Amino acid sequence: MNTKILVTYASRAGSTAEIAETIGRTLAQNGAAADVVPMQDVKDLSGYDAVVAGSPIRASKWLPEAIQFVQAHRSELARKPFATFTVSITLAMPNGDGYRQAVSGWVAPVRALVRPRSEGLFPGMLDFTKLPLTFDTLKLRLVVALGIFPKDDRRDWNAVRAWAESLSPLLLG
Ligand SMILES: Cc1cc2nc3c(=O)[nH]c(=O)nc-3n(C[C@H](O)[C@H](O)[C@H](O)COP(=O)(O)O)c2cc1C
Repeated sequence: MNTKILVTYASRAGSTAEIAETIGRTLAQNGAAADVVPMQDVKDLSGYDAVVAGSPIRASKWLPEAIQFVQAHRSELARKPFATFTVSITLAMPNGDGYRQAVSGWVAPVRALVRPRSEGLFPGMLDFTKLPLTFDTLKLRLVVALGIFPKDDRRDWNAVRAWAESLSPLLLG
């Protein structure tokens, strides 16, 4: 029988959701049965052999609902092959690779709850037409205007697919 993998995500503007879809598609191409489901719709992990969970970074943290998901399911996740992925605009900066360690540090609270077998770190997307006008997004516009954060879609689909390919042996083993 096919290994059943849950790919679950939190996303505010949709870019992490599309990365989750690509991970799910790649896992399926490698022979797994992959369900891609937003975290708020996941009730039960018992039907899955492995779980991949992802969140974008906001203010140097995973979204609160994503942390809550891992917290709520931590004992079950600890018994299954588990991997995380994290989406941030920092990795899209010109010297983004130099920030991988910092971005990885932002995932420490997740790692402290359940240790993953693999952690994907990916550049994301800043599209202000998809974001509400709030104090936080205004601050972000300023950071972009100052040339610190790049804007637009900076997702690296090859990197996402390559990571998902690397997961198959880790999650099936
Ligand atoms: C209000 C806000 C705060 C953000 N804070 C950070 C941050 O601290 N560091 C970072 O690297 N990216 C930050 N980002 C960028 C997001 O991680 C990136 O846009 C991501 O692709 C959003 O995912 P989503 O489309 O699934 O919501 C922030 C984005 C927003 C809208």
